[in-house]
Amino acid sequence: MTLRVYRRIDEVREALRVVRSEGRPIGFVPTMGALHRGHASLIVRSEEEQRPENGLTVVSIFINPIQFEDRADFSGYPRTLDDDVACCEEAGADMVFVPSADEIYPEGFSTFVDTEGAYAERLCGRARPGHFRGVLTVVSKLFNIVQPTRAYFGEKDAQQLFLLERMAKDLNTDIRIVGCPTVREADGLALSSRNGRLSPEERRAALCLVRALEAGKSKPEKSGNPPRGSATGAFVASVKASMSAIIEAEPLARLDYAEILDEETFGEVCDTTTKALLAVAAFFGETRLIDNTRTDTDFRKAQDERR
Ligand code: PAJ
Repeated sequence: MTLRVYRRIDEVREALRVVRSEGRPIGFVPTMGALHRGHASLIVRSEEEQRPENGLTVVSIFINPIQFEDRADFSGYPRTLDDDVACCEEAGADMVFVPSADEIYPEGFSTFVDTEGAYAERLCGRARPGHFRGVLTVVSKLFNIVQPTRAYFGEKDAQQLFLLERMAKDLNTDIRIVGCPTVREADGLALSSRNGRLSPEERRAALCLVRALEAGKSKPEKSGNPPRGSATGAFVASVKASMSAIIEAEPLARLDYAEILDEETFGEVCDTTTKALLAVAAFFGETRLIDNTRTDTDFRKAQDERR
């Protein structure tokens, strides 16, 4: 099948209705364009998973105005549609949906999907008020339009992935949310549509994010035996401090956050944590970058060993 580009909701709906009636699965990759190898990896993964059942992959490209709390970030967001369509085709997508803002938010639009709870208020939720409300609202709308079998999201945006999984559960969405590993440059920097906005000096400086995560990850071995009872608290503080120190030592970086949290609850690491997530964010000039990695430290085991 050759790639087809759709701009209207009713047209893409009609094309997908036919696919669904044939019992073929639909894989969906929502994006904001400026596509890179990270996005392509989601498309390839979707293709691999739909192909055995004769399914197809839909990519949406929509720079969602309501998830940008900063107008300059929205207006400066890279717009590279021709290259994006070529990237979709190369990665094996079958359909690209590129709606206009009016198509998604016609006059009178007034219904939003929002999230409450501590996990939504930390990290990017705190740094970017209203951001996740915009993400959940647009993804809900896209889910209703495309009605995919599976939807693919990057672990690079770990909090977004967590909240979308939560939303799918909370709203009884019959769509499988699939998380995909972060694709990186050779030197370790996570691919991001915003990397292109960095000056060469900022690009070099941005590697402090990777170094901070590495330092945080190597902490469990080096942290020794903190006193009983306060072990987890002391460990958390030392991981955060070591990550922050690395970012703060980089003159071109302005630290936003350096956190460690329980990957399953997105809450504080505690004695029952088995998997922790290290997450960092910093500004390089006007450009805000985020990154994260997992640690498989079993905090229950660590506690037991210390006893
Ligand atoms: P965007 O930033 O374009 O990202 C689209 C998808 O690509 C997201 O699931 C993101 O996590 C994933 N992605 C980005 N960089 C990646 C990398 N280096 N490796 C692997 N995956 C990567 O995230 C959004 O758009 C929007 O918030 C969206 C979900 C489309 C809603 O508007």
